[in-house]
Amino acid sequence: MNSDVIEISGNGFRYPAFVGRGLIAKAGEIARNVIDRNRCTIIADQNSARFFGDRVCEAFASQNFSPQLITIPAGEKSKSLTQVERICDEMSKAGFDRSSFVVGLGGGVVGDISGFVAAVFQRGIPYIQIPTTLLAMVDSSIGGKTGVNLEPGKNLVGVIYHPALIICDVDALETLPPQEWRQGYAEIIKHAIIRDADMFHDLSSSRGPIHRSGDELVELIRRNIVIKARIVSVDDRETSGERALLNFGHTVGHGIERATDFKISHGDCVNIGMVAACAISIKRAGFSTKQRDEVVALLKKFSLPTQLPAEVDCEKIIDAIAHDKKFLAGKIRFVVTPKIGEARVSSDVTMDDIRDAIDNL
Ligand code: GLY
Repeated sequence: MNSDVIEISGNGFRYPAFVGRGLIAKAGEIARNVIDRNRCTIIADQNSARFFGDRVCEAFASQNFSPQLITIPAGEKSKSLTQVERICDEMSKAGFDRSSFVVGLGGGVVGDISGFVAAVFQRGIPYIQIPTTLLAMVDSSIGGKTGVNLEPGKNLVGVIYHPALIICDVDALETLPPQEWRQGYAEIIKHAIIRDADMFHDLSSSRGPIHRSGDELVELIRRNIVIKARIVSVDDRETSGERALLNFGHTVGHGIERATDFKISHGDCVNIGMVAACAISIKRAGFSTKQRDEVVALLKKFSLPTQLPAEVDCEKIIDAIAHDKKFLAGKIRFVVTPKIGEARVSSDVTMDDIRDAIDNL
């Protein structure tokens, strides 16, 4: 087997993340070494079920896990309590009990809902993440954030509940659409800015995005899992502020998402938000204009957006940020970078700083 294993551990949790090629065929074997149970529900969306459902079921069946596949519609709308109820209902009717486990097979939506189902079904059973998008491999499958959306907003119901195992088969990315690659690269570049100057320089001197499986991509994903694992190992519940650093670019990014009624993807909004965060960092954290230009050049190299589309109304973004519950609660806590590879939360950023940065996007 051609793979690496990264251990993710912290206060009260410890689990391995496997990253490599050809791992879907070995998923049952890997799981058998980690989970001493015999029945599993595999939750997938229509796309991940179509591409990988049969192979994952075979892999688990080969180790006598008696897998049952439950499919949800693809897309954010499936992250709902209605789907959680439906899945739990199907599991109960099929006789799943406390001795079973869940496998989440898909992108971030599937991972979040699978983890939440595992957390609440019969008061909690283990789950395995098999992420099939770049974003899920480098970010959402790691660290135990699970949950669903409510009508007033995203992720309003959820719980931190860590998986027992993560299996990233980089070959699964062969079927990934271009827009999904962009979402993943947005998070990779964010990781580089906040935590890994070497990776930033490697990406800057690379040929640009890799859109196919191979050793280079395995190594890039491994490096990003390590970054995320280090952050959640010290602050999985977002109490010390370390995990909040992953929100670099997100304050303005979320404002753009809301101001445009979510018509621009989350990743693209975060990219534009990171450019705004760099401008604010120049003013409030001693970030240099040279480094800001390097960030913009890297985003462009990866064909990621750095400017607001002309039709987006800046006032709407400001309004969305001002009404963000984080701001209503008191002081603005904004993630800034003093230099590439480092980040911290600042309480000095003002609404005027944010307005200036957005006006200049
Ligand atoms: N994706 C941000 C986090 O896991 O905290």
